[in-house]
Amino acid sequence: MKSDSETLAGLPVVRHPNFSLKDVPRYWYGKEPELTCFVNALHLFIPDGENFFVRTILDASRSTNDQALRLQVQRFVGQEASHSLHHREYQLMLVKQGYEIESWLTWYQNLAYKRMESTRSPLLNLSITVALEHLISSLGEWILKPGHSLGDKADPTMAALFRWHAAEEIEHKSVAYDVFQNVSGNLLIRWTGMLIASGEILCFWLSASQHLMRQDSRITIKSILACWSRNHELNLVVPHLLHAAWSYLRPGFHPAQIDNNMLASDWLNSESMKNNDKHKVPCNNSNEIAI
Ligand SMILES: [Fe+2]
Ligand SMILES: [Fe+2]
Repeated sequence: MKSDSETLAGLPVVRHPNFSLKDVPRYWYGKEPELTCFVNALHLFIPDGENFFVRTILDASRSTNDQALRLQVQRFVGQEASHSLHHREYQLMLVKQGYEIESWLTWYQNLAYKRMESTRSPLLNLSITVALEHLISSLGEWILKPGHSLGDKADPTMAALFRWHAAEEIEHKSVAYDVFQNVSGNLLIRWTGMLIASGEILCFWLSASQHLMRQDSRITIKSILACWSRNHELNLVVPHLLHAAWSYLRPGFHPAQIDNNMLASDWLNSESMKNNDKHKVPCNNSNEIAI
């Protein structure tokens, strides 16, 4: 079997790490309720978002005869399914902690998928997936870099979960883009996808954060402002996303041009990852998902 660093140059690897979430403290990020809620908001919208990515990519890839690309798509689907599963598991933890998330999830699913997705063309939906994949892998690169506070402020299990997800986003960063180029490559549609994706990720992230924060009596406007001024990284989220979006608009852009594969492979081969990676799916064709 190839090592992770070898497979990174080719096919993404489907892993099923075993993160034990039951001992994760309620305020797992720096013991700060505001910061924890802001990052917990990601657990709310990521799983349905990843299902959307899988739907759009599977739909588009059915029309391609490029077998190498179809294999990349199969691995992409396997990785996203695994991410989705772990974030859903944390949703259950949030419910156990007393958070009501069902009303927000229903509102989000109705708006983002029953209304918005169904009224857009399949190609525009695919372009939104491509743009979101780029934004997410850019955030992934950020949190994998040495010095990010996830390393020293967060509960180690949660830090490992987010960094595993980040590393796999980098591992499959080109798949959605290559599918889009294969079926269309229209620059105007790619740009439109980024415009919609940037707005959606910011709106849903803020909305989910607000939904969680208003259920916590320890959180007030004053405490949010204090948290924001203590954690300067929070001020960098929007500029980081805007910078990633801007670089994506260049006509000759391709995700493979971004030099971050080593960051991902270093994490995937690290001791922290190996300790959680008890159930790695062997890299052979018997595990592929038929598309
Ligand atoms: Fe993912
Ligand atoms: Fe992804």
